[in-house]
Amino acid sequence: MSKLMKQVWAKAQADKKRIVLPEGEEERNLQACGKIMQEGLANVILVGSEKVIRDKAVSLGVSLDGVEIHDPETSDKTQEYANGFYELRKNKGMTLEKVDKIVRDPLYYGTMMVKLGHADGLVSGAIHTTGDLLRPGLQIIKTAPGISVVSSTFIMEVPNCQYGENGMLLFADCAVNPCPTAEELASIAISTAETAKTLCGMEPRVAMLSFSTMGSAQHELVDKVRRATELAKEMRPDLDIDGELQLDAAIVKKVADLKAPNSKVAGKANVLVFPDLQAGNIGYKLVQRFAGADAIGPVCQGFAKPINDLSRGCSADDIVNVVAITAIQAQDQAK
Ligand code: ACO
Repeated sequence: MSKLMKQVWAKAQADKKRIVLPEGEEERNLQACGKIMQEGLANVILVGSEKVIRDKAVSLGVSLDGVEIHDPETSDKTQEYANGFYELRKNKGMTLEKVDKIVRDPLYYGTMMVKLGHADGLVSGAIHTTGDLLRPGLQIIKTAPGISVVSSTFIMEVPNCQYGENGMLLFADCAVNPCPTAEELASIAISTAETAKTLCGMEPRVAMLSFSTMGSAQHELVDKVRRATELAKEMRPDLDIDGELQLDAAIVKKVADLKAPNSKVAGKANVLVFPDLQAGNIGYKLVQRFAGADAIGPVCQGFAKPINDLSRGCSADDIVNVVAITAIQAQDQAK
């Protein structure tokens, strides 16, 4: 286990949170549930048919001691969640007929649990797509105060690398916002700086990436990054955020000394904010594949309460780690 994940586990164990797994009937979720409870990383709540969950747990040899199970078909909370969801969405065309069916969907049921404080966070995505998971979160949980968009970050751990924080850097947004505006990009930068502090204990130095460094190229795409940098600095003067910077000027001291000598961030950035989702998604995969980096995430950020996505190819151990990360986000939001 990496040094970072050891720290994350220790923090999660120190103040256990209630994390709901809406894909409770799925085998990897059940295996993860057993390990999370055994390691004391969180109190797990599973959503699904109680019979299916208990039968599968027996065949997998997983103990469900202390695990709460909610079946939306029989739960006495389903009506409360339907009423709550209706109130939240009635101005968006939701009808009483539709809500009954929607809250029986484990993802919506689990998200309402988090909304009403019956769970502290949610992890899903072993069988659902990113969009399936995010939509209930975006509709129900919404963004945290002062944050305009939900976004995501990957914590990259690059072996034998001196860039960033001894090879650790955060990349954003690599999974959620296809084409952020300048305002949204500023919000992504601020959220990622906060994630760097909360999860990695880093003092963030945020580079707003472009194909231009401090005015070296003129283009409307560069203007967007420049505007986002100004906005982020105005919103959070306490943070070290700078741009626009090319990737090498952001992380290589020699290049920074030439191209951006007065920047507090250039040459030593540990948070890289990409201008759009195509750049971010391609960027993290390049580093993962070519440099053999561990890519932890995508960690969702900016939600008023924590919700996290899994890759459909995830292992039970990946789920355990994402639950620990979600628990720490929940601890942070409870402060
Ligand atoms: N932050 C906050 N709110 C948002 C965001 C956001 N990023 N995106 C949409 N919303 C809000 C909308 O304003 C809307 O609110 P309202 O209904 O209260 O008015 C609600 O969420 C639903 O919006 P839609 O536009 O209907 O949602 P959409 O269908 O576009 O889905 C989603 C949003 C899922 C985030 C979409 O942008 C998406 O699919 N993004 C890409 C995900 C992806 O495929 N990533 C790559 C793979 S992941 C990987 O490789 C690791």
